Amino acid sequence: MDLSFAQTHIETEIHKRDENLREEPPAKKPRTENKNSAEITKVSKEDVPSGSVQQRCSPRKRLDIRPLNESLQQKSAILPKKCKQKFIYGNYSKYYGYRNMDKVFHDVRLDVFNAYCDLFTEKSVLDIGCNTGILTIEIARRFKVKSIIGLDIDRHLIDQAFKALNRRKKLLPFDNESKRMEIFPFNINFVHGNYVLKDDVLLEIEKPKFEIILCLSLTKWIHLNFGDKGIKQTFRRMFLQLKPQGVLILEAQCFNNYAKRKRITDTIYHNYRAIEFFPQDFHTYLLSAEVGFKSCELMGVPDHSKAGFQRPIYIFYK
Ligand SMILES: C[S@@+](CC[C@H](N)C(=O)[O-])C[C@H]1O[C@@H](n2cnc3c(N)ncnc32)[C@H](O)[C@@H]1O
Repeated sequence: MDLSFAQTHIETEIHKRDENLREEPPAKKPRTENKNSAEITKVSKEDVPSGSVQQRCSPRKRLDIRPLNESLQQKSAILPKKCKQKFIYGNYSKYYGYRNMDKVFHDVRLDVFNAYCDLFTEKSVLDIGCNTGILTIEIARRFKVKSIIGLDIDRHLIDQAFKALNRRKKLLPFDNESKRMEIFPFNINFVHGNYVLKDDVLLEIEKPKFEIILCLSLTKWIHLNFGDKGIKQTFRRMFLQLKPQGVLILEAQCFNNYAKRKRITDTIYHNYRAIEFFPQDFHTYLLSAEVGFKSCELMGVPDHSKAGFQRPIYIFYK
């Protein structure tokens, strides 16, 4: 096999995968007069796949004038399977709307943290996989952290997090002191990035920076996308980034929870099949000499109405 072709093919696939990471914007509504009338969707040059005979088609075909049902049926038929590959990192844009059904934001995990509220006071916190930052902001507000950084692999989610943060800042009077004193909400920041390093060798330059690391509903996505190696590296990186006496707050998904997502991408399928390090092994690994946490205890189990979200939350002490 031509290796340069294989390389290009892999790169194209990676690019396509990244493109598919985002939820597609809602398709423009077709212009229809009534149920039986024809749909008129203008097809632009860019929409034409290469090698297509579109240019030589009749105007009728180029305008895609067909009965509505037929047109929709064909569209979904030609949609490549990968168009449905969304949220490959669990980067759901409506995550908190789905997870917390209340109109006013209340995440039941906050009730678990409440019992440990002194733990957060005046601490520097890293929230890995912060999604739209709603929970990150709420933790900062309630528990009076010194500073908190929310990190996410999805740039669009980080943009939304900044918007939410700016809305908070705008609620304050102009001459508010918080900015000067670097307290809430001026002690919050968001960063776009992948927590999984390209190579384990980079762990060697890691420095302790945080007193608390939050790893909430994230392990499954790192495990599926980066395999056993990726999740193990993540645990070691967290340990290295924690200051002495620092803590990791871990809410891991159980292995049963993985299967539903195993076919989202080829990489995920491959990683899923190759798993030898299971979530039930996480504790032993975190407390082993390879990572180094001293002890661990159960913080609590959130009282969520859906059993799937009643995941135990553990605290690991460095
Ligand atoms: C299921 S959501 C959980 C959100 C939040 N931690 C919570 O529990 O409310 C998982 C989040 O982790 C992010 N994520 C997945 N893999 C990541 C990685 N390698 N580095 C940083 N963020 C990641 C996703 O984009 C997504 O926003």
